[in-house]
Amino acid sequence: MKHWRIEDVAWDRFDPSAAEPQVVPLVKAAAMVERNGTDYAIYLNRVFGDDPDFRQAADHWAEEEVQHGDALGKWAMLADPSWDYASAFARYKAGYQLPLDADASVRGSRTGELIARCMVETGTSSYYTALAEATKEPVLQQVCRHIAADEYRHFKLFYDHMRRYLARENISLLRRLRIAASRITESEDDELAYAWHCGNEPDGLAYEHGRCTAAYMAGAMAHYRFRHIERGMGMIFKAVGLPPRGRLSDVSAKAAWRLMQWRRQRFVARLAA
Ligand SMILES: [Fe+2]
Ligand SMILES: [Fe+2]
Repeated sequence: MKHWRIEDVAWDRFDPSAAEPQVVPLVKAAAMVERNGTDYAIYLNRVFGDDPDFRQAADHWAEEEVQHGDALGKWAMLADPSWDYASAFARYKAGYQLPLDADASVRGSRTGELIARCMVETGTSSYYTALAEATKEPVLQQVCRHIAADEYRHFKLFYDHMRRYLARENISLLRRLRIAASRITESEDDELAYAWHCGNEPDGLAYEHGRCTAAYMAGAMAHYRFRHIERGMGMIFKAVGLPPRGRLSDVSAKAAWRLMQWRRQRFVARLAA
């Protein structure tokens, strides 16, 4: 059972004058990536082929991710009636492919796969919380709060399964840290950048990774506050098996916050050039 449905959202409260023009393209791009959850579920079903409990959970998870895409897509069409969610997503799907034929996780182990999933859910949980707090548009606030709550539950889901596999696979802390770090840096790969392109750029303009990552990241990073990074760092620590609260987590959150500001400046400069 889903925790909320698209029909539960008070769409009639949409206020076009409150929809920030800089937020609309971010929502369009996010809708693409969320809607693509079914493809990731196909991959998870292959990687966890002999684990019916997890496969069922993954299918349910994907339904929720698709709903995130549909809700964000619906909101973006209210904010920009000239935009078509279905055709933008069709373009995304045609050009961005996950490794669906894999028989084992690209992370080298099932524990690693689940740690990577925890990183993604940490990112989305923080992002939608930040977006809900940043926007003044009441419907987007409601949609982002619903999504952020789902993403946090997804984190817990993958975390619980990860603990189960960790007891079996016994991956070292260093390896877990490496997997977590590599999944975090992948946020600057094609998945989001290409979603920005398909959601926002005209058909005639060729995809260029650097330009699209800079546009997406400069816009998205502007909405974070330190508290979102602090909470996210606690989740990352928990996922790799370190104490979520304490001096190391505090120092890491402060360093991550400074790194994010610096990266954002670089993306802004890249866009200006
Ligand atoms: Fe999601
Ligand atoms: Fe999620």
